[in-house]
Amino acid sequence: MASEYLQNLTQNFAAVSASLLVLGLAVVSLRKSSSGRPPVVPYWLPWIGSAVSLGKDPDGFFKKAVDTLGPVFRVKAAGRDMIYVTSPELINVLYRNAKTYDFVPIRLEISETVFQIPIPQMTRVVDHYYPDHHRLLSPKSIGPILDRYAQYAFEDLTPKIASMNGKAVNLFDLLIPPAFTAASAAFFGRELPAQELYSDFAEFNDAFHLITAGIPRWMMPAPHRAWDKVIAAVEEYYKGVKEKDLDEVPELVRLTIETCTPAGLSDRIAACLLAGDLWAMEANAIWAAYWFVVELLQRPAEYELVLQELDTVRNAWIGAHSDTPLSSTTFADFMRDSANSLPLMSSGLLECLRLRTSTFSIRRVAEPAELGGYKLDVGEQLICATRSVHLDAEVHEDPYDFVLDRYVEGPLKKATKNGKTVPNHSMPFGGGISMCEGRHFAQSEIKTFTALLLTYCTLEVAFTETWPEMRMDRLGVGIISPKGDVSVLVKQRNL
Ligand code: HEM
Repeated sequence: MASEYLQNLTQNFAAVSASLLVLGLAVVSLRKSSSGRPPVVPYWLPWIGSAVSLGKDPDGFFKKAVDTLGPVFRVKAAGRDMIYVTSPELINVLYRNAKTYDFVPIRLEISETVFQIPIPQMTRVVDHYYPDHHRLLSPKSIGPILDRYAQYAFEDLTPKIASMNGKAVNLFDLLIPPAFTAASAAFFGRELPAQELYSDFAEFNDAFHLITAGIPRWMMPAPHRAWDKVIAAVEEYYKGVKEKDLDEVPELVRLTIETCTPAGLSDRIAACLLAGDLWAMEANAIWAAYWFVVELLQRPAEYELVLQELDTVRNAWIGAHSDTPLSSTTFADFMRDSANSLPLMSSGLLECLRLRTSTFSIRRVAEPAELGGYKLDVGEQLICATRSVHLDAEVHEDPYDFVLDRYVEGPLKKATKNGKTVPNHSMPFGGGISMCEGRHFAQSEIKTFTALLLTYCTLEVAFTETWPEMRMDRLGVGIISPKGDVSVLVKQRNL
């Protein structure tokens, strides 16, 4: 329903563009870079600027802009004027210079405009809340959360497989609900009614790219209303959890209580913070496994190779732990011992993260600067368009193809551009000070979920007219969600 709503919004955009054209208000902006400023991508219509062409085919738009204007250019779209940075080298400059290109003010602004967390209240706690949040999601701390995730994913996915055994079902219905509830339970416990929240969550998430692009609330009230409901449910949960002994409260929620209570922040603000976390942990990761399965379904021989790898590793583990059968409580142990012995599966998942993400890291120019030979003014915002690197044919051979074993030996050592090595050839999690804090959890989560799925069932295409496509209108928010779905025949495996 939300997609329909957004489609209408896009159509309205196109209609407005057309009428402006008819009214003869169009102007042609073919300004070349002057006075050392980044060049502007040419556009016809004031205010709308490049919004329509950018929305229609963003990959083509960026490629053309890079080919004609170089790695730094301005895009005027929907009343905004943003500078995009597309080369790995210059993106690295932004990531490394947090003093010149800062992020905290932007994080605070997004928290307020998107997640309803008032800046003045948040400013009182950022100094310890942000670093503590970061620490909590570091590799050293996430062990118990990952263990719980494996347990809940087992508990939620395996009954689903059993109930769908022998049936043709939509891949979405098999994967997404259990992936959503398991991640939520790992961070919040079962007390948060994740399943009930899903449709409101999805409605808000569907519009997330438009909300972050600054489309006002009055133009799209439904997704905002849906998010209000998510916040209300989280607040109710929070009030209940706050009554518990802190030792019994999951880590992230404990941090929120320990931050908000002494600072006098309301339960609603605490709920907004936690709902923001819920968005970050659920919006992306669940689609990585989905895309991987879609790729494997299209390549049965590669599916077989991934399955063989997993079966070999799992049989070896079971052989070495004959008194510990695989179960909801031991699957985490198996993954901890074996995750590094699954190079093909790991490579395929990394390849999905390269091919299926559109990640924008945003920075604010904090002091006068020069980038790629262009002058930048204080206060301007820059966007690191990492997908341009992911799809750069100089950096990646056959960049538009899914290559299962591309990363089988780890990060690409031979990735180069202009004769220089490109260490940041893949940046699905952004980088620098705003790099995704959940990336360590996410990578293990996706692998655990995929291993569970392939362990307990096999999937065959039951019916598909067209394969799911990427929703390319969802620019810059992480993994690109699918448009369409595929029907799969589920066969439970008897191990
Ligand atoms: C495959 C899954 C995921 C992808 C592709 C992803 C991607 C991203 C991206 C692109 C950013 C912004 C990076 C930037 O601005 O440079 C981000 C930020 C963030 N992500 Fe993730 N994410 C994923 C999973 C998760 C999970 C599971 C969690 C939590 C458990 C999480 C928590 C966060 C947080 C807290 C931030 C904000 C960091 C900050 O503002 O400093 N993410 N993520």
